Amino acid sequence: MATKSGEGFSSSFGAIMAAAGSAVGLGNIWRFPYICGKYGGGAFLLVYICFVFFIGMILMMSEFVIGRRSGEDPMKAYPKLRPDRPGWRFVGLAGLLTCFLILAIYLVISGWTLNYFWESLTGTLAEIADSDFGTHFNAFASSAFRPVLFIALFLALTTLVIIGGVEKGIERVSKLLMPILVVLLLVLCVRSLTLDGASAGIAYLFQPDFSKLTGEGILAALGQALFSLSVGMGVMIVYGSYLPVDDNILKTSVWITVCDFAIAVLSGIAIFPAVFACGQDPTGGPGLVYQVLPVVFNSLGGIGRIFSIVFFLLLSLAALTSAISLLEALTQWLSNEKNGRTKSAVLMSLLVVVLAVAASFSFGDGIWSSFKVGGMQLFDLLDKLTGTILPPVCALLTVLFFGWFMKKEDIIDELSNHGTVKVGYFKVFYYFLVRFVAPAALLIVLISGLIN
Ligand code: PFF
Repeated sequence: MATKSGEGFSSSFGAIMAAAGSAVGLGNIWRFPYICGKYGGGAFLLVYICFVFFIGMILMMSEFVIGRRSGEDPMKAYPKLRPDRPGWRFVGLAGLLTCFLILAIYLVISGWTLNYFWESLTGTLAEIADSDFGTHFNAFASSAFRPVLFIALFLALTTLVIIGGVEKGIERVSKLLMPILVVLLLVLCVRSLTLDGASAGIAYLFQPDFSKLTGEGILAALGQALFSLSVGMGVMIVYGSYLPVDDNILKTSVWITVCDFAIAVLSGIAIFPAVFACGQDPTGGPGLVYQVLPVVFNSLGGIGRIFSIVFFLLLSLAALTSAISLLEALTQWLSNEKNGRTKSAVLMSLLVVVLAVAASFSFGDGIWSSFKVGGMQLFDLLDKLTGTILPPVCALLTVLFFGWFMKKEDIIDELSNHGTVKVGYFKVFYYFLVRFVAPAALLIVLISGLIN
């Protein structure tokens, strides 16, 4: 219980479940498979693995250290660790702003997912002809009322968990949902792998095709690694402030990273063999999950309906534990002696829902689709900002602070739990990565991305 409010996770297991809950989300199940397919399958996977373990995991450890050492929200954490450099608080602020924007767009996509869960449950999806799923998705996502209804429902659920508190809300829900999620995903993998023609999907996902791995693909791999691990925006600083004092940060970060990576790969295994077995287009892009997968489910007959329900339930639950972490970061920041947890959570929800609804209205042929900022519809702008630009910028500033401004003794003391855990040669390797490799890689990828 590191924070001033006395809130925290009750055990390392609870902390791992909550942080893995944040990491595992739409990024793993909805985004990873189509991006991986787009940029060369196995070749993308190799680059992605390097970014996940050498940059993403390193950032996660760093954020946990900053959070637990300071026991503060991201905005107060930096100046607390370097009181002589108060300007660093703006890095915390930038992270929180990024969380706000991610949450807005996350709510829109989570709302779609919840609607598809509902439509699987009620049988609506089962009645749609294969050729009509594209039209169905566009008509739904561009309509005014229905997406907003599901956004509101999803946000209400998220807010309720936050009001429940860190241990009784976030930790409890994550401990319950994460194992369910793994079981559901494994069921889908087994079904997908046993379909006739499944091997083509596995080949598509794992066979390296280096000709498709462009500079843009490398950038996408980095953006995806950061987004998927929930690092760079300060969420792991928040969860770090709730870590038990005796939690082994190195071990915890390795577990969460492995879990997040495994779930992304398993999602690919659940999706691509089925897509190939049913003769669908694997390059369906962002629409893959909403326009292509329902066709796959319908072609499986009666059992397909059950798989459809299971899949959209899985996606909704994964999205929920991620949205919880985003709202928690904003709530922790707003809470103080005067504004309690409940008031802060409700206030933040009301603010973010305004942006989410505006983004929903601007999507596709929505009622605000003609409103453009910098030539882009609001939804697309938010997607670009939160998917490619802001996370690497915040991540770069975080590693710079960590590697060059935070005291090395503080870092080692925190990683080794005040000398009780052996960190040995790892600390040399880690320090090298955090000081040189991570900032250089982030800078190169960012600059090439901005030039693009
Ligand atoms: N990691 C989540 C996912 O893969 O869907 C998304 C996310 C959650 C990003 C929390 C950033 C964050 F701070």
